[in-house]
Amino acid sequence: MGKTVLVTGAAGFIGFYLSKALLEQDGLVVGFDNCNDYYDPLLKEARLEILRGYDRFTFVKGDLADANAVDGLFEKFKPTIVVNLAAQAGVRYSIDHPRTYIESNIIGFFNILEASRYYGTEHLVYASSSSVYGNQQKTPFSTDDDVSRPISLYAATKKTDELMAYAYSHLYGIPTTGLRFFTVYGPYGRPDMAYFKFTNKIMCGEPIQIYNNGDMLRDFTYIDDIVKGIMSVMVRPPKPDDMDVRHKVYNIGNNKPENLLYFVEVLEKCIGREAIKEFLPMQPGDVYQTYADIDEFMRDFSFKPSTTIEQGLARFAEWYKEYYKL
Ligand SMILES: NC(=O)c1ccc[n+]([C@@H]2O[C@H](COP(=O)([O-])OP(=O)(O)OC[C@H]3O[C@@H](n4cnc5c(N)ncnc54)[C@H](O)[C@@H]3O)[C@@H](O)[C@H]2O)c1
Repeated sequence: MGKTVLVTGAAGFIGFYLSKALLEQDGLVVGFDNCNDYYDPLLKEARLEILRGYDRFTFVKGDLADANAVDGLFEKFKPTIVVNLAAQAGVRYSIDHPRTYIESNIIGFFNILEASRYYGTEHLVYASSSSVYGNQQKTPFSTDDDVSRPISLYAATKKTDELMAYAYSHLYGIPTTGLRFFTVYGPYGRPDMAYFKFTNKIMCGEPIQIYNNGDMLRDFTYIDDIVKGIMSVMVRPPKPDDMDVRHKVYNIGNNKPENLLYFVEVLEKCIGREAIKEFLPMQPGDVYQTYADIDEFMRDFSFKPSTTIEQGLARFAEWYKEYYKL
């Protein structure tokens, strides 16, 4: 693209892969992350180590909630495109640690919006989440659905980001696109997510906890599909809507929910070991199913995630064994 792209959350799972894919093209990538210890910081360091192998990568360690740090970042690098992936993720963690969600996801995102306004960002793309759909019964989930009933603070912060982005697009003309991701997985993934925790436990011969007795459906999306999706969006800021606002929200998911027990079965095959299963009731904040309607995304970007869980989990299991030298 030949531009300077700021990727916040570059030491994180999705930010790492996006930065790497951008660095394989032309242009400069500035990564920003506070490398917090929500999960193993060594994994974040391992991702950054790979990114540091590219000349056109610059890393700045800092906190999104620090307005001066964010302002200084924009002042120095004047990014043309900003992809805001840094956030406090995780639904369950938000039950006991609400403040960090407000700081990173709301104050942090506000700082990004303000800096984008002052430094003339051409397109701000930001991560939202399928969690905004809460316990919605109607499927598949469409961006036209009413999402005013979040069942976790995490979801509430993501919906708030969409509203703030809309207001900034309306008031200051900044083109913004929000992407609602649906359970992203793959090598170098997040250790706090179920598939990763299951793998750790299966490898140690410990029981895995399956909530709602396994009666759950998840629209899993493989990391490469997500990165392709973000990259197609980045270069195409939204056109003005009927209110002349350049803001858009899309779902990016597989449009094919998988049953949790089938998912575990595939994982067991990929790892080559059987899981000891402990069945538990539903946890607060958890949703029964996620299922993305991606028609609009496919129409606007002629692209659809296509990696099956059989392919994706096989790649994850292979990476896991290599990374942990098993
Ligand atoms: N992975 C998924 O399945 C999924 C699903 C829906 C939405 N999302 C969203 O996508 C984005 C990326 O998710 P991910 O899976 O890569 O998560 P991740 O936790 O691996 O990456 C987020 C990164 O942001 C950094 N960070 C957190 N707070 C920060 C702050 N205040 N200042 C600077 N850096 C900070 C963390 O250190 C981390 O490296 C997040 O916004 C997340 O909410 C992810």
